[in-house]
Amino acid sequence: EEKNIFSGTKVLITSGPTQEAIDPVRFISNHSSGKMGAALADAFANAGAEVHVVLGKGAARPVNQKIQISQITSAQQMYEACLHIHSQVDIAIFAAAVADYAPKTIASEKIKKSGDVMTIEMVKNVDIAKELGGLKKQHQIHVGFALETENEHANAKDKLKKKNFDLIVLNSMRETGAGFQVDTNKVTIYNQFDQSVTSELLPKPEIASLILQAIQDLPKSV
Ligand code: PMT
Repeated sequence: EEKNIFSGTKVLITSGPTQEAIDPVRFISNHSSGKMGAALADAFANAGAEVHVVLGKGAARPVNQKIQISQITSAQQMYEACLHIHSQVDIAIFAAAVADYAPKTIASEKIKKSGDVMTIEMVKNVDIAKELGGLKKQHQIHVGFALETENEHANAKDKLKKKNFDLIVLNSMRETGAGFQVDTNKVTIYNQFDQSVTSELLPKPEIASLILQAIQDLPKSV
């Protein structure tokens, strides 16, 4: 692999889970460990890029010391941090697992145990990738992920279009050793021309290299 192939390139990466507070002691979140995002961040930094990661709480941190990190908690905070940086970057990678909904109100005191059933009203969060996709300039490259449990390929292609991605990386919860938490992943990478490549089950740093390669192969690549 050629070294410094991404030197002079600015990259924004979202990584890890968001946490949506219910009350001062509880939150709604997901199983993202941040390993995929950290592997991507290190791969870009090692290839000479200037990397900025917007990182969910508790998520794995990249190793390369040159990488800038903005630590956030909620989807709204992740959005605001990304919005601040987005216009300056050449490439944005959306590897975070963002909560689609958040509790409508955050109780100011710990919610007391009461009836046998309790309901939390939720409201839709901002779709970070979609919003920034609407702001994407001609020279910018956006790469999304799709984490699916059914109709994987159709859903991934749908998200590619709706969120204005140049590439989407599908990882399926149906594949053993792929997706959340694990050190490996197995992905299919789609471009806008309906072409795809499918990987073997590989360590996340090797999946990151394949994603960097797919970006280099884009017609408008940096
Ligand atoms: O962190 P790990 O444990 O290593 O696991 C890696 C991973 C499985 C989290 C990662 O590879 C992955 O698939 N990330 C995206 C998970 C996800 O939320 O997928 P989605 O299909 O719900 O979302 C589609 C895309 O829109 C994603 O790029 C997502 O970051 C983005 N999105 C979604 C919702 C939202 N409100 N804002 C977003 O930006």
